[in-house]
Amino acid sequence: MEIIICPNEGRVGQVAAAKIAKIAAEVGPGVVLGVATGSSPLSTYDGLAKLLAAGKLDLSQASAFALDEYVGLADGHPESYREVIRRTVTEPLGLDPSRVHVPDGSLHGLASAGERYEKAIVAAGGVDVQILGIGTNGHVGFNEPTSSLSSRTRVKMLTQNTRQDNARFFASLDDVPRHCITQGLGTIMAARHVVLVATGEAKADAVGRLVEGPVTAMCPASVLQMHQFATIVVDEAAAGHLALADYYKQAFENLPAWQALDLA
Ligand code: GLP
Repeated sequence: MEIIICPNEGRVGQVAAAKIAKIAAEVGPGVVLGVATGSSPLSTYDGLAKLLAAGKLDLSQASAFALDEYVGLADGHPESYREVIRRTVTEPLGLDPSRVHVPDGSLHGLASAGERYEKAIVAAGGVDVQILGIGTNGHVGFNEPTSSLSSRTRVKMLTQNTRQDNARFFASLDDVPRHCITQGLGTIMAARHVVLVATGEAKADAVGRLVEGPVTAMCPASVLQMHQFATIVVDEAAAGHLALADYYKQAFENLPAWQALDLA
């Protein structure tokens, strides 16, 4: 695991975007991105948009797969992840909407939606780089505590903790859906690279458990300890519970040239 501690949120976005751009350059313009909703990756999308504008990134043939979706929201609901991804990823990054995929959370066909999504990811050649945030309870995507570490895209019930965290996007807590469809932890682990971003003190406990705790379904993100190429980019506040913070900082400052990021 590569842990990068940044002074602030803007730098988190710049570093995560540089990492993603490095991977995209190795793969080529047909790179397959895994994209996440939530506040955490917004600075990363800003960073990617800046690299695009500077001609340092080519996403002209890129595809994207979102992690998750609420179940049962009306088509076009502004807080459906299909809409959030359109506003925060597809449009700002100029992706071809026909190549941006979101799990189907409509009630019709829900039983087969997970399997269909898994097949679509495989048909696209698999995810090259998966962008992730983390929930305060350690969830990634909507894989709540006790999710199988090898799970695949399926319907899950949200915890009350997650519904409360996400209530800020809805008129009231009662309006937050109870069910979702999410890529599984096994699906996420199949991505070739994973870049997780987290900022703020509210994430410090989850980040501490993800990086330095035991691998356990009680902290679903901890499965990333088993990933060959996982990069965790956090600000100082989110790094607050990391016992080895100094070690991670020294490692990043002394990266060999071939691993260094273009942060100009
Ligand atoms: C939601 C999403 C996750 C996201 C998490 C944290 O539950 N399903 O993908 O990582 O929220 O969101 P935020 O980044 O806004 O704290």
